[in-house]
Amino acid sequence: MTAIPKPRLEFLPMREADVDAVTAIEQRAHPFPWTRGNFVDSLKAGHSAWVFREGGALVGYGVLMMTVDEAELLDITVVPEYQRRGLGGALLECLVDVARGHGATRMLLEVRPGNASGLALYRRFGFAEIGRRRAYYHGKDDAIVMAREL
Ligand SMILES: CC(C)(COP(=O)(O)OP(=O)(O)OC[C@H]1O[C@@H](n2cnc3c(N)ncnc32)[C@H](O)[C@@H]1OP(=O)(O)O)[C@@H](O)C(=O)NCCC(=O)NCCS
Repeated sequence: MTAIPKPRLEFLPMREADVDAVTAIEQRAHPFPWTRGNFVDSLKAGHSAWVFREGGALVGYGVLMMTVDEAELLDITVVPEYQRRGLGGALLECLVDVARGHGATRMLLEVRPGNASGLALYRRFGFAEIGRRRAYYHGKDDAIVMAREL
């Protein structure tokens, strides 16, 4: 029997041409999604934005904001139908490599206390809570601040 080849996973810079597909995924995956304009502005601001493609299909993406020696993870998302297959962890490790390549020694992020999948992913990949930001989200919900030394 011939083995079915596994679709190739590619980690590529996000381009403006990806933004429509990314925004559509974002709307489905997040209760409080970024808008199309947020992604366009992020690319214009020079943030380090990346996509995962599996067999050509866009299956995830992540956005980092680099400062001198720290990287802030602004967004990480896997297409709902592709979640719990290891893609989120693999994407996070790719973004960690990018951050290290820019000379970052620490990665930071904010996450909603109710985001079970996000919290579980970050804990599993070595992030620890370092504080809280009160009323961070739209002046209402708190954010948990997490960090991982690189
Ligand atoms: C968070 C997210 C990126 C994880 O992607 P994923 O591809 O499902 O992650 P993985 O399959 O690599 O999971 C890695 C580990 O994270 C943890 N994890 C991920 N999703 C989880 C869930 N729903 N419940 C519990 N643990 C979870 C588990 O420890 C998992 O390892 P395991 O499957 O061996 O138990 C994905 O759920 C997502 O896109 N969520 C919506 C967007 C979001 O909230 N992003 C984070 C804040 S910006």
